Amino acid sequence: MNVLLRVPEKMTCSMKPAFKHRITTALAERAAQGLTRALTPLARQNEAQFVHQGRTYLNFSSNDYLGLATDPALIAAWQEGLSRYGCGSGASPLVTGFHQSHQTLEAMLCEWLGYERAILFNSGFSANQAVLFTLLQRGDLLLQDRLNHASLMEAGSLSAATMKRFRHNDVNHLSTLLSTDQTNVVVTEGVFSMDGDCAPLAELSACVQHRAVLMVDDAHGIGVLGRDGAGSCAAAEIHPDLLVVTFGKAFGLSGAAVLCDRDTGDYLTQFARHHVYSTAIPPAQAYALSRAIEMIQRDQWRRDKLRQLQEIYHTHLPRHVTASLSQTPIQPLIIGSSERAVQFATALREQGIWVSAIRPPTVPEGTARLRITLTAGHSEAQVRQLAMTMQQIMEASGEY
Ligand SMILES: Cc1ncc(COP(=O)(O)O)c(C=O)c1O
Repeated sequence: MNVLLRVPEKMTCSMKPAFKHRITTALAERAAQGLTRALTPLARQNEAQFVHQGRTYLNFSSNDYLGLATDPALIAAWQEGLSRYGCGSGASPLVTGFHQSHQTLEAMLCEWLGYERAILFNSGFSANQAVLFTLLQRGDLLLQDRLNHASLMEAGSLSAATMKRFRHNDVNHLSTLLSTDQTNVVVTEGVFSMDGDCAPLAELSACVQHRAVLMVDDAHGIGVLGRDGAGSCAAAEIHPDLLVVTFGKAFGLSGAAVLCDRDTGDYLTQFARHHVYSTAIPPAQAYALSRAIEMIQRDQWRRDKLRQLQEIYHTHLPRHVTASLSQTPIQPLIIGSSERAVQFATALREQGIWVSAIRPPTVPEGTARLRITLTAGHSEAQVRQLAMTMQQIMEASGEY
């Protein structure tokens, strides 16, 4: 059911004049750039297909890569957790919010990914911010891939360290930026969220060895790549000092963890404010997350299916397009102008296919795109339909 929220008259004009001016100016600027974003309330949007305003859409904009979000076994696990442990955790972890189910989840993550400690967070955004704010000091040099996620970029620029960006996936450029008299921290994503390409992790790891702390945010690689879904680092056979995994994508749930050594874990437990001063995730969620790990490890068929769907998608698009497509579930179609990206997304929607147009500032200027994501919940026929519809739109417009 869609609920239309009506804002009471009084609330719309109650903002203090200084803020009111700031807010209306920023909104007007965004609208003038054609970049206004809007929330669309959807029902069953975590499935491969959903109905919106009476029309059925194929959903190619979900990060639920393995199709776990609506898997009956995972739903049952969360329900079982709720029956056993109730709803909320009731407190932050260091007060009374840390439950045995959190401890079990941490232990499973450590064993699976090969670390001494796992520290849980409510989201990947807060995990990234916590790590950079807590570990970096004035005088440190933070080097980030220029396409890293907003949570990393923002934390880096607000941190006490000096931040520099290296060219995307350019290990040689990174090497020239490493300092000999500062503590270097290098941060990259495992799979880049908007491009779907993989970082050259083995080369990066070799380049920074003994010269920098390496942190990998594997939000989009965990569950999808590597043996038993252990992620990008497992696939590249590297062991970064800090590994961030998020639970809102392939795990089908939400939350995140930072994997690290014992001392770093103890340090984050003491000083990471996003961990210390925030209510712990519900124990039932931690319980469900432990079941999700088992499903990710066991269900190789989900990863195999993703590979098949990727191949089908690539096969059915024109060759000049497939040349730039990725080997992960994230399949961007870079269009360039924001206006044309929105037009393409609208044309797809008219054909019953839901794909989001991603525009600046989420992606660099001039690289607006369709961010298409495949999941193990899609059928081969649905992916063929996507590719063929895209091809028809390209041919009809004559611009691609
Ligand atoms: C690479 C990357 N890191 C971190 C996050 C934030 O994770 P969360 O959604 O759990 O806050 C995202 C979210 O899209 C992401 O793409």
